[in-house]
Amino acid sequence: MDNAENKVVKKPIGITETVLRDAHQSLLATRMPTEFMLPIVDKMDKVGYHSVECWGGATFDASLRFLKEDPWERLRKLRDGFKNTKLQMLFRGQNILGYRHYADDVVDQFVQKSISNGIDIIRIFDCLNDLRNLQAAVDATNKAKQQEGRGHAQIALSYTLGDAYTLDYWTKMAKDIENMGADSICIKDMAGLLVPYKAEELVKAMKSATKLPIQLHTHYTSGVGSMTYLKAVEAGVDVIDCAMSPLALGTSQPATEVMVETFKGTPFDTGYDQNLLAEIADYFRPYRDECLANGLLNPKVMGVDIKTLLYQVPGGMLSNMVSQLKEQNAEDKYYDVLKEIPEVRKDLGEPPLVTPSSQIVGTQAVFNVLMGERYKMATKETKAVLRGEYGQTVKPFNKEVQDKVIPGEEIITCRPADLLPNELDKIEAEMKEWKQQDEDVLSYALFPQVAVDFFKYRLAQQEKVDLAQADTKNGAYPV
Ligand code: CO
Repeated sequence: MDNAENKVVKKPIGITETVLRDAHQSLLATRMPTEFMLPIVDKMDKVGYHSVECWGGATFDASLRFLKEDPWERLRKLRDGFKNTKLQMLFRGQNILGYRHYADDVVDQFVQKSISNGIDIIRIFDCLNDLRNLQAAVDATNKAKQQEGRGHAQIALSYTLGDAYTLDYWTKMAKDIENMGADSICIKDMAGLLVPYKAEELVKAMKSATKLPIQLHTHYTSGVGSMTYLKAVEAGVDVIDCAMSPLALGTSQPATEVMVETFKGTPFDTGYDQNLLAEIADYFRPYRDECLANGLLNPKVMGVDIKTLLYQVPGGMLSNMVSQLKEQNAEDKYYDVLKEIPEVRKDLGEPPLVTPSSQIVGTQAVFNVLMGERYKMATKETKAVLRGEYGQTVKPFNKEVQDKVIPGEEIITCRPADLLPNELDKIEAEMKEWKQQDEDVLSYALFPQVAVDFFKYRLAQQEKVDLAQADTKNGAYPV
């Protein structure tokens, strides 16, 4: 007997839990310390999450700079605790977790060490969606997978709007990603621009172009996040990124428990235990209250910011812009700058607005308005973009702007890292007096000054130097 027609095909969706990375990066300036994470790991490990995102993005910088923690040590401790759950990190392509292009040997070594210290899934993105900037990290992940028996390269496309970003663009990207040897694709909607019915259209189109699993990452900033997930799941998306409710919504992700409940009893049922999730939420709730009380969590970021949809500018970029204008006593220029942002974006080849392109476009727009003449002054980064040093944009640069800003200069069209000689040995030579583990070389490569401050702090701790005294001597150990 064939009952196939009546049989409901089950397709449980997976959830990547972001409470240990993106949620506190988006709400709490990445300040959650490892010591607070560890006691809840055991329970989180029992949920059955697709993965737990816990590293990369700003966690690395914030650990060294503000928390005085070794980020590698955090990773190893989390790896020890999560016996059954895959650990995931966010990786900025050729920029790794820093702000410049690194040579391939540094990218390779960083990926290798991330995986050997405990990462399973590396989500790799580029601010221009120039796939050439992702190839070295994908190759390194595949190489580490062979050596460690662990490792998954996920390529994230930075989602954005604009003439060039048609369904054809996204489906072609999906095919190219598959051909690059990646294991899965993420649609990374960092600004909350992806609205529900567009998500359905996009996921269907991409699913028809690739067999790779597709994951969706959004932020609740514009208030549509959970509806977007609903339509995307119905359209076939495989995994969604959510945060435990005490650190969900606002500039963070849709809430884990809400999405689990939404799909309960449907073919997409996650099968996660709501009682267990409630116990985990109980752990994070007092921490949220504490962060509200001490000001780390600003109630302003918890609401709906509809300007995100109106101006298509990520929330973080707007707040940067406001503080830049305040410094110049030019808050009355707010709307002029808002109008200038899309113009600058067009001049620079219409890139997605995500770190670092968001800062580059935003700062240049502020300059253009405040100087009273467009590109009278161009930032170092604007010049680098126009020289092709960040890679290729979806549309050509504005030739007039290029001629004004970098007249007569040579333009790069190759993959930018092809011009960078290997640099790991040189970096190691610079910092070898501080080296206690191979990973220290990578911390230094990314954040030289911050890493050295941390190494000094670490040494002082190890040698039981009186920290109060060390403070006055170097002023190097902020509380
Ligand atoms: Co995010």
